[in-house]
Amino acid sequence: MMTRSQKQRSKSLKPEPTGQERNLTLNEVRKFRNMIYRYYRKHRRNLPWRLTSDPYHILVSEIMLQQTQVQRVMGKYEPFIRKFPGFHSLASAPLRLILKEWQGLGYNRRALALKRIAQKVMKEFRGNLPASVETLMIFPGIGRATASSIAAFAFHEPTVFIETNIRRVFIHSFFHDKSNIKDTEILPLVEKTLDTSSPREWYYALMDYGAMIKNEYENPNRRSAHYQKQSPFQGSDRQVRGMILKVLTRESYLSEREIMRKLQMGSEILRGNVMQLQKEGFIKRERKKFTIA
Ligand code: ADE
Repeated sequence: MMTRSQKQRSKSLKPEPTGQERNLTLNEVRKFRNMIYRYYRKHRRNLPWRLTSDPYHILVSEIMLQQTQVQRVMGKYEPFIRKFPGFHSLASAPLRLILKEWQGLGYNRRALALKRIAQKVMKEFRGNLPASVETLMIFPGIGRATASSIAAFAFHEPTVFIETNIRRVFIHSFFHDKSNIKDTEILPLVEKTLDTSSPREWYYALMDYGAMIKNEYENPNRRSAHYQKQSPFQGSDRQVRGMILKVLTRESYLSEREIMRKLQMGSEILRGNVMQLQKEGFIKRERKKFTIA
């Protein structure tokens, strides 16, 4: 017997549903959840930031995980937390020390954002990170996915969101023969399959499954409409800025000439990047010398 939706489809001669119309039956939802949780029971990753619900700890880990692999974050998360144990200490720490602790994670903008987040939390939220996604998104360096993951992991909110591992799971499981898949097509499925009774465990399970797919299959995210490879680091301005910040975290005050000499670089490469770093608030100029802001 045809279901009502099948009847409607055959009546109007609609084509097979594409991802956009993809609607899961309760049975499909149940099967999917069971499959994800079965994998998780056997293969869950014991990650240090999963042993806590402290919003500060969760925030630090999620910002670190935005653009850096789990393995690398593993070596950096605990020393960072030991050095800056809460919003107060991070807000009042010199940026130079924060960047020093950030070394090896890359994308230093995130370290600066973290400090600014901590300052805002202290100044405007009496030291408490807000739990609402919309409020979290006001903070620098926090987009929808990070805000949602913080709300789910620190506050057990049943938020609906997509990040790279989650995207991979849904494309792999539900969009077999399709490419150019938009997140707007995936989101309804994320919502429908979400285990609202334990969103935190559910998303951990999804992320672990997504990480497994990356190792075992050709990356399904290549079929995402939002797929973007990280741009090459070697020879990039981002690399030059990283090098400038690194020498300035070691030696507090350096002139442009001294930076040039230490990095073995010409002023034409250096100057634009120094200006950029100044503009972003990483460094400042005091008389003829530059220093971390
Ligand atoms: N566990 C908690 N947050 C995570 C993330 N963003 N990526 C992987 N594992 C996580």
